[in-house]
Amino acid sequence: MEMQTGLKLHLICNQAPSSRRELVQASLSHALLEERIGELADADVYVCAPTGMIAAVKGHLLAMGLPEARFHTESFTLPTLIRPKSDGSRHSIHFVRSGLKVTVDGATTLLEASRQVGVHVPTGCERGLCKACVCTKVKGVTQQDEQSDIPLARITMCNSLPRSDIEIDL
Ligand code: FES
Repeated sequence: MEMQTGLKLHLICNQAPSSRRELVQASLSHALLEERIGELADADVYVCAPTGMIAAVKGHLLAMGLPEARFHTESFTLPTLIRPKSDGSRHSIHFVRSGLKVTVDGATTLLEASRQVGVHVPTGCERGLCKACVCTKVKGVTQQDEQSDIPLARITMCNSLPRSDIEIDL
């Protein structure tokens, strides 16, 4: 991408672990930005993030000497997961390749279910936006696909709530 556009793209993840090699895992800091971005004299910086992250990045970069006019942003709000009130129903979540199962209620995400039995799922935002946690649902219905029990659907584990017993290809 850098050769085609002249843009330098830095992918930084603050939560472990990530299997993506191009991701740097670190917390946002002045030192990190200095190390990754380097000389700011001729830079324009573009940040797309929730407002809190934008404010934090901006604070660091302006302190490092970036002129405010060269700081460009687009903010978004992370969606809120609306969990249903418990109706007493329980669902078996089967991680097929691992051979592990757990029973949860309808307000427990599939990511939370995976953590209960120690099945690793890569994550990022944990709000359904970044798609780091996408896995293949082999069988069952979640609130995301209540209208159709689509076999082999690709779903985000962090915001999927079970509506039936589920089988996941993990
Ligand atoms: S962790 Fe980002 S979409 Fe699930």
